[in-house]
Amino acid sequence: MNRCWLFTLVALFALAACGTVPSTTESPPTVTVPLLPMNTPPPTATAILPPTQDITSKIIHPGLPLLVGRGELFSTSGACAICHTGLVDETGVDASIDTNWRSTMMANAARDPYFLASVRGEVLANPELGPIIEDKCSTCHMPMARFTAYADGGEGKMFEDGFTDPGNALHTLAMDGNSCTVCHQIRETNLGLESSYSGGFVIDTELRSPNRLIFGPHTIDDDPARIMQNVSGFRPEQGLHLSESELCATCHTLYTPYVDATGNIAGEFPEQTPYFEWFYSDYRRTQTCQDCHMPEAEGGVTVSNLSQVLRSPFSKHVFVGGNAYIIQVLKEFGEELMVTASSEQFEATKELTIEQLGSRTATITFDEVRLSGSRIIADVVIEVLTGHKFPTGFPSRRAWIHFVVHDSDGEVIFESGAVNPDGSIAGNDNDVEPGEYEQHYLAIVQPEQVQIYEAIIVDTEYRLTTTLLRAKGYVKDNRLLPSGFEKAAPYEDIAVHGMAREDEDFQGGGDEIQYIADVGSSEGPFVVTVEILYQSIGYRWAENFRLGNGSEIERFLDYYNAIPNLPVVVARAMVSVGE
Ligand code: HEC
Ligand code: HEC
Ligand code: HEC
Ligand code: HEC
Ligand code: HEC
Repeated sequence: MNRCWLFTLVALFALAACGTVPSTTESPPTVTVPLLPMNTPPPTATAILPPTQDITSKIIHPGLPLLVGRGELFSTSGACAICHTGLVDETGVDASIDTNWRSTMMANAARDPYFLASVRGEVLANPELGPIIEDKCSTCHMPMARFTAYADGGEGKMFEDGFTDPGNALHTLAMDGNSCTVCHQIRETNLGLESSYSGGFVIDTELRSPNRLIFGPHTIDDDPARIMQNVSGFRPEQGLHLSESELCATCHTLYTPYVDATGNIAGEFPEQTPYFEWFYSDYRRTQTCQDCHMPEAEGGVTVSNLSQVLRSPFSKHVFVGGNAYIIQVLKEFGEELMVTASSEQFEATKELTIEQLGSRTATITFDEVRLSGSRIIADVVIEVLTGHKFPTGFPSRRAWIHFVVHDSDGEVIFESGAVNPDGSIAGNDNDVEPGEYEQHYLAIVQPEQVQIYEAIIVDTEYRLTTTLLRAKGYVKDNRLLPSGFEKAAPYEDIAVHGMAREDEDFQGGGDEIQYIADVGSSEGPFVVTVEILYQSIGYRWAENFRLGNGSEIERFLDYYNAIPNLPVVVARAMVSVGE
């Protein structure tokens, strides 16, 4: 099949011109159920999308040098990369730690324009809580600066003369995001305990250079350890806790305080819980966060360019999630965002993200498709492969099902869940009206209904909200459950909310849904296509920014307007019926 044509059809990540489409973005898994041989060309599943735009590859920036800075407790990545770069695996592929890390969301957690707009939005919505919000939000997104301020008896401050100001003494540490000396200095002390969540990791505040400890997975001999110690002021030491999910859980379990209508703090909200979702799934026994998010290099690799010993397994610092969209923003606007990764490095991370979404996230298949009178009845099965809910993490993420029927002339006769050019989902009440939302469906019988797997949040007055500090609870949480997750169990903070609770086939490992499409007097054979689409920023989450102002918000909206918020195809199946 012609790449260019396929790409235009599926508008997979319709940002690149066809000529420059990287090979990994062109082929989401196509699961074809051969009920009948195909005799019509594949339908134009997302034909309503505008032609792909050539905005990729216009701006090629090389990335700035890694930050070099040293505090009493932390050093920036530039101080570590000098020896931990230039590494290759046994097949000759680059496995340099800095190369992989610098284009990840964690390395860019402090520069992320969506994050900065979000903090500004929270502060504007709750001005009297400004200092609490800036302190809270900097805890995990600017961990080195915030931890240092805290250790000195202060708190995190982001705006005005705070961490984002180049004149601030902690600016350099802040802008290095979640860097080497954060993860590698976390102590075993409280891992897995409640006090470790919401950024409660323990890092030593007593030891001084050159005696500060850096934990790693291997045992290191004295001589190489001393080389690192002499140059960096940190001594490598084996710490097996580094390889445990509980390390990641310190920041990937987030409770945010919320306020009532009078602005008083009224409680805490489980905003992100991938660790709990993982803990209560089958993966707790089989794979850690690191196993999936730090894939092993081929064969042994020397962990520094001064080492002789090949270490295996060697875990790559790629930290790929689902956020292809902001990675694209960082790539396109890298120069003004002063990123340290090059366009190519962001492109590599984006490709890995799209590849992970398209091959290791979920599958969709037809169980049965039949024509009954003038109705097509299709039973669709979704299987989840993630080690936590899908989507997980930040509550703006959403996945949905796009279902289309074409007649023998290629005309669309039934469509649910099409994406509009502005990133909204056709038929989704929430994208039209901020106070409404689409319930979880057991069956879809009208094109206006859409199955969306998402979190819908309400405030203390039970109004829908995307303001984190107003978020009291979920009215809908039908994010797909990982394998082994027991829906009925009383885990309040990760519970299913809304109609999915009653849906018997919505269980750990996936969901089943029926589509009933009236084809009227149209002529068969009909081609039925179904796909799972994923977006990291749901339409309403971005749209609500238009109500606010502030330079961070305006800047985010400029980027958002420039780069279409189009979904990534996670899985697809196609079948022909009624000959
Ligand atoms: C002067 C070179 C040099 C610098 C600078 C340096 N390291 Fe190292 N690092 C080494 C060497 C050499 C080893 C031992 C490698 C071996 O034995 O295979 C090592 C080991 C490690 C290990 C243990 C790896 C394992 O497999 O368990 C970690 C983690 C580490 N370094 C992180 C860092 C961090 C973080 C920084 C920045 C603060 C840093 N290094 C700076 C040279 C350096
Ligand atoms: C406990 C650590 C922690 C704290 C505290 C925290 N965050 Fe985050 N934040 C995260 C993690 C982890 C993610 C990534 C989740 C994902 O990718 O799904 C994230 C993602 C985000 C995103 C999405 C970014 C994107 O590019 O899609 C926004 C926006 C955000 N956070 C805003 C905030 C705001 C506002 C605050 C303060 C109220 C805050 N965060 C406090 C850990 C934290
Ligand atoms: C988000 C946390 C995190 C950050 C940030 C991070 N690392 Fe790591 N690193 C880990 C974990 C976890 C492992 C062990 C992985 C395992 O056991 O599978 C590791 C392993 C290593 C190793 C041993 C070799 C390997 O890759 O297996 C070295 C050396 C290392 N890191 C250096 C660095 C340097 C240098 C940086 C900054 C450029 C960095 N790390 C940033 C979490 C992190
Ligand atoms: C079995 C493999 C697997 C395991 C185990 C796993 N993940 Fe994931 N994770 C994935 C896949 C695949 C995705 C991409 C799909 C998605 O975004 O949910 C992902 C996505 C993510 C994202 C990005 C979410 C988003 O949509 O922005 C975060 C954050 C994350 N994982 C954190 C974790 C943490 C923390 C753990 C351990 C508690 C963990 N993961 C364990 C496979 C895994
Ligand atoms: C110091 C806090 C911290 C720790 C520890 C941490 N993370 Fe993160 N992580 C973050 C933040 C903050 C973000 C979101 C940055 C953003 O989107 O702006 C994030 C984002 C991610 C993403 C999402 C990428 C995407 O494309 O959506 C993945 C995957 C991830 N982290 C994996 C891990 C794993 C695996 C570990 C443990 C080895 C870990 N993290 C430890 C703070 C942390």
